[in-house]
Amino acid sequence: MNNFKFENKTAIRFGKDRLETELHDAVAQFGNNVLLVFGGGSIKKSGLYDRVISILSDMNVVELSDIAPNPKIASVRQGQELVKKYNSDVILAVGGGSVIDAAKVIASSKFYDSDPWDLVSNPEKRQKIEQLPLVDILTLSATGTEMNTGSVISNPDTHQKLGTYGPKTPAVSFLDPQLTYSVSKWQTAAGAIDIFSHLTEQYFDNGANDVTSGIMEGLYRAVIKNAPIALAEPDNYDARATLMWTATMSLNGLTSVGNQNGWTVHPIEHELSAYYDITHGVGLGIMTPRWMKHVLSDDTLPRFAQFGRQVWGITGTDKEVAHRAIQATFDWIKSLEVPTTLPEVAINDDTHFLDMAESAVQVGQLNQDAYVTLQAADVVHLFKEAMTEDDFSK
Ligand code: NZQ
Ligand code: ZN
Repeated sequence: MNNFKFENKTAIRFGKDRLETELHDAVAQFGNNVLLVFGGGSIKKSGLYDRVISILSDMNVVELSDIAPNPKIASVRQGQELVKKYNSDVILAVGGGSVIDAAKVIASSKFYDSDPWDLVSNPEKRQKIEQLPLVDILTLSATGTEMNTGSVISNPDTHQKLGTYGPKTPAVSFLDPQLTYSVSKWQTAAGAIDIFSHLTEQYFDNGANDVTSGIMEGLYRAVIKNAPIALAEPDNYDARATLMWTATMSLNGLTSVGNQNGWTVHPIEHELSAYYDITHGVGLGIMTPRWMKHVLSDDTLPRFAQFGRQVWGITGTDKEVAHRAIQATFDWIKSLEVPTTLPEVAINDDTHFLDMAESAVQVGQLNQDAYVTLQAADVVHLFKEAMTEDDFSK
């Protein structure tokens, strides 16, 4: 097991109906000037916006709305102007991963006097400056951003979608599963696949250890079981609650301790989102089974066999179990009623394949750090494989 340091200071307030009694003080502990950040309107439709405004009625609340999925740097720039102009003490982010991710970089940008894109393209700069405290109300189970330091921000001008890390996780995260009842089937499925992918990125790791492997096998089983239930019954509290906590636990640092942490499918998917603005989890769902098939070898066979036995409950020889586990992964993704090929998300030709592949290798260090190293030609191959249906059983 590699050396590690583990610390996570986010206070989680999990469960039903805590906002009216706890949100005010959770925000007010940091001051009176609040920047309220939210997305394209789901919180107005659900009534959550009105609740929040009423709870914070005695505070100075300035609003930044319309944070888009795959949040754009333009929104962060707008937020930077507001936190400086109104001398914000605290940011309250209400929404999914995109809203919270943007809010985190805005939180840093108050202490930076140039273009905040610098803080995305050069996270080391961000580590050296302060970051405003962030309180969030999560409305979509997927990214784990509610308990980690990460943000992923897009720059459409340069076709870049990059991860950046600040010095702080959110100070307080409110996780009320009821707030996810209104999440669409598409986003529920995409969120579940994102959770599955976060586990996969950490499970298939050259430094994997028994402690984190066991935790992840449980988390895998939880998401596999509960995603179809939440799709069929959007207001099933236990299914929504399990997805929510699984999302948080899968990317709050707990499952990566002692690992090497060379991620592969995320850097590849981020290129698809950067060029085609597709839904993150859907892109992961398309690429993951192809990647699994590509990296299965005599060397990786034992890990795939463990994955098949512990996660999917498959029995047989290592080889049979490994192949059937990849097929089971594909079948589960398909059962969530999302696209499983690139043409189904309107990527119909290979125009950008090489550029995307080269960028993924460079940004994700895929030729050095990945579980199985990949060159640009391998990534192009994966994109090509994703153009058509495949058989993953052999
Ligand atoms: O904008 P609104 O109107 O709020 O609608 C959103 C959005 O259209 C909607 N939505 C959210 N909560 C809802 C709801 N609709 C109805 N009811 C609700 N309760 O869902 C749509 C998607 O929202 P978004 O925030 O984009 O989804 P998600 O949480 O999946 O976040 C995806 C983003 O997070 C990044 C992704 O790359 C992507 O940009 N990631 C962030 C990570 C991190 N910070 O650690 C790690 C992840 O791997 C990921 O890369
Ligand atoms: Zn993800």
